[in-house]
Amino acid sequence: MPPRAYDTQHPVTPAHQVPQMTFLSATLDRVKPSPTIAVTTRAQELAAAGRDIIGLGAGEPDFDTPDNIKAAAIRAIEGGKTKYTAVDGIPELKRAIVAKFARENGLSYTPAQVTVGTGGKQVLYNAFMATLNPGDEVIIPAPYWVSYPDMVQLAGGSPVIVVATMATGFKIRPDALEAAITPRTKWFLFNSPSNPTGAAYTWAEVNALTDVLLRHPHVWVMTDDMYEHLVFGNFVFATPAQVEPRLFDRTLTVNGVSKAYAMTGWRIGYAAGPVPLIRAMAKIQSQSTSNPSSISQWAAVEALNGPQDFLGPNKALFQRRRDLVVAGLNACAGITCPVPDGAFYVYPDIAGCIGKTSAGGTVITDDEVFATALLDETGVAVVFGAAFGLSPNFRVSYATSDAALTEACMRIQAFCAGLH
Ligand SMILES: Cc1ncc(COP(=O)(O)O)c(C=O)c1O
Repeated sequence: MPPRAYDTQHPVTPAHQVPQMTFLSATLDRVKPSPTIAVTTRAQELAAAGRDIIGLGAGEPDFDTPDNIKAAAIRAIEGGKTKYTAVDGIPELKRAIVAKFARENGLSYTPAQVTVGTGGKQVLYNAFMATLNPGDEVIIPAPYWVSYPDMVQLAGGSPVIVVATMATGFKIRPDALEAAITPRTKWFLFNSPSNPTGAAYTWAEVNALTDVLLRHPHVWVMTDDMYEHLVFGNFVFATPAQVEPRLFDRTLTVNGVSKAYAMTGWRIGYAAGPVPLIRAMAKIQSQSTSNPSSISQWAAVEALNGPQDFLGPNKALFQRRRDLVVAGLNACAGITCPVPDGAFYVYPDIAGCIGKTSAGGTVITDDEVFATALLDETGVAVVFGAAFGLSPNFRVSYATSDAALTEACMRIQAFCAGLH
């Protein structure tokens, strides 16, 4: 087949051909490719070339979806539940989500206040597409999940980044939130426990932020509670609409089954909020993907309604790995790693490594150079902090085996010991 005009791999050059950049949408100028995918790709290339690579970049649990959930999906297939469904979710799943919010968060929603999409990612995207006009601002605390600013920009809004450093446990303070609010602020985007830091806000800390929001009635809250079930020790998860019921009518509570139930590939996320917003989000989805996979929806019904007893042991497992990784990283010269309360990430600071030269001869000028040299010289893949809006740091996902984590920490220790 002859190459097409916009195919950069096989360019064709007759004078009448339309150049690539006039063919592609200007929208692309507003987004950058995912840096986490770039790291994964580089690690895969090195592994394919025979290198011994330890990947600490993936944002997903390393264990399999529980059997009862798989069985529900098989039943759905065999029972012919393989057709289009209602655009934003089957009634059975909406009811299971209503029950989950009541049971776990003390939030009282009706099915009409619930929407289901193809992963939490689509739900967040729908919400921005349904609400943002050019110039509308979305306050995003940094370090942030890589997709937030790009999603806001794709939807035509402007991200307003509020940086929280290690000194405050990577959590923003109420005065910083207050200072970021303008008449154009539409959303405050909240994520606790956080990807990439694992930082989790206590009830009192959430309350301090919701107090600020009460003073600004035009600002809505989008809370991404994806890591709700991954909090450690005696930490108690809190979500804004639960902490401050007066914000209930301007809060979109987003959650999903990906992380808690090891269902990243099934692609089911959901949200609850005011009916007009939920309807607007369904309208966007109706003209893009329509319903999420019918089979995955039935699996999610089982995830939410079925036994929840494996969540406790999972938490204990992740907590043990967190402690292993934090200890291993704090034993590295030049690295400081705080102990987070949730998720399966740590976000060590590498200020003590900047300006030094690696054993392989690379001058560590920033965290991207650090991560690249670490991968090239030791085979350990991590994601550099600049991707998440705070440097000099890197993100470690500890959702992998104890053996891999122990070996990775030893390699990072050796890498740091070699810096001079
Ligand atoms: C903070 C956060 N929100 C949302 C998502 C999206 O999850 P999914 O689309 O798999 O439901 C992720 C996935 O990495 C995440 O880390």
